[in-house]
Amino acid sequence: MPFDRADDPAWDPLIDAARVAMARSYSPYSHYPVGAALQCSDGSVVAGCNVENASYGGTICAERGALMAAVAGGRRVFDGCVVMTRGPEPAHPCGLCRQALYEFAPELPILLVTHNTDARRLVFMQDILPGAFGPKDLKK
Ligand code: THU
Repeated sequence: MPFDRADDPAWDPLIDAARVAMARSYSPYSHYPVGAALQCSDGSVVAGCNVENASYGGTICAERGALMAAVAGGRRVFDGCVVMTRGPEPAHPCGLCRQALYEFAPELPILLVTHNTDARRLVFMQDILPGAFGPKDLKK
């Protein structure tokens, strides 16, 4: 099964897409570019970058940008996600992005990479957002 190992070549197209998106990041305030890419169940890859705003709270993270683009494009099932930041160590998705991704993919494999080192870390949504509130709770 792909996406269950950090060194699986199935990640490569997502890493490439996240790299392109990261280069397009609009981050003049933090100077911290982020790229993200989602593997959609139909085989497509949808990427996003962080887009900051002079009203800082209006900033959208890369992961949520990718998610909104994917859903707007009719994709709701995701097999994997790559998040690319600068090194030396890859960064985890923020809490808001974890919650947003959980809505559609409660067991999502997320590969954390950097654009300038070989450091990689594979995490799973159920481990980084334990006890999550989600769609299941509204059905109770
Ligand atoms: N950022 C992301 O794009 N994703 C995250 O998961 C964490 C933070 C962005 C938001 C902001 O533009 C910059 O990184 C610094 O917080």
